Amino acid sequence: MEPPEAHGAHGSTVLAEVRGAVGLARLNRPEARNALSPEVMETLAQLLEAFDADPAIRCVVVAGGDEVFAAGADIKAMRDRSFQEALVSPAARFWPRVAACRTPLVAAVSGYALGAGCELALACDMIVASETAEFGQPEIMLGIIPGGGGTQRLARVVGKQRAMELVLTGRRIGAQEALRFGFVNQVAGKREWLEKALEVAGVVARRPPIATRLAKQAVLAAEEAGLTAGLDHERRLFEIAMATEDRVEGMTAFIEKRPPEFRGR
Ligand code: HXC
Repeated sequence: MEPPEAHGAHGSTVLAEVRGAVGLARLNRPEARNALSPEVMETLAQLLEAFDADPAIRCVVVAGGDEVFAAGADIKAMRDRSFQEALVSPAARFWPRVAACRTPLVAAVSGYALGAGCELALACDMIVASETAEFGQPEIMLGIIPGGGGTQRLARVVGKQRAMELVLTGRRIGAQEALRFGFVNQVAGKREWLEKALEVAGVVARRPPIATRLAKQAVLAAEEAGLTAGLDHERRLFEIAMATEDRVEGMTAFIEKRPPEFRGR
């Protein structure tokens, strides 16, 4: 494990670890149920950007603790925010910064992932959930609506009817229902959720890094573009992948019946 200082400024509310080629960002504010205060958001965004800029990091896991992934934006910090302040809040910049990460992100969710916590999981590329996980968008009960992608990403992932129900009622769903909805990739035991997420991230981390970043971009383009534009975009990214040394190595290794040695070139 490398010292966390290697990955830039961060405080004790977000812990950084490096396990091989996987970066681990852990929310650590249990007394406030990992509520995403502006400080936590800034710290997490800086850490994700530092991981993203490090060529030795091939995949990142975003996790909370056993009891809670994140209980949402910090309601105490938000309550007295004026309309004018909300317009210029640095918290608004947090979401595009997470979305701009080219390195694949795996959310490891145990316990509550509510409001902005649920949106943070949705902003990741895959979700591994503990059997204890509970997801929800309770904003409606506070008189607001999701503001970090919880209407847009959720509707794309689970479909309009289900998203509408969750956003309008604030109902929470457990890990098994989330699995049925296609919202999470896998459900793990309550003592194994983090290891399982690190395992998935470890598999991605062994894949050639240029191709994984191109693949992430290509799949995300499916949410943005119509089919023809999306297919065009995919084709261009595919052609870039064809220009890498790693793909020559990958194909040669297959033909020579040996494991590939990817160099990120
Ligand atoms: C600030 C929070 C908080 C939050 C919990 N706490 N969630 N503080 N913001 N989102 C604080 C509590 O006030 C309390 O502080 C301490 O953490 C423990 O919380 P409890 O409620 O006593 O814990 P528990 O009974 O275990 O219940 C856990 C919980 C519940 C189910 C997660 O705390 C809860 O419902 N939290 C709010 C969930 C929510 O509405 N999220 C949406 C936020 S709005 P004290 O000082 O009393 O010890 C949002 C908008 C996003 O996310 C918009 C885009 C950015």
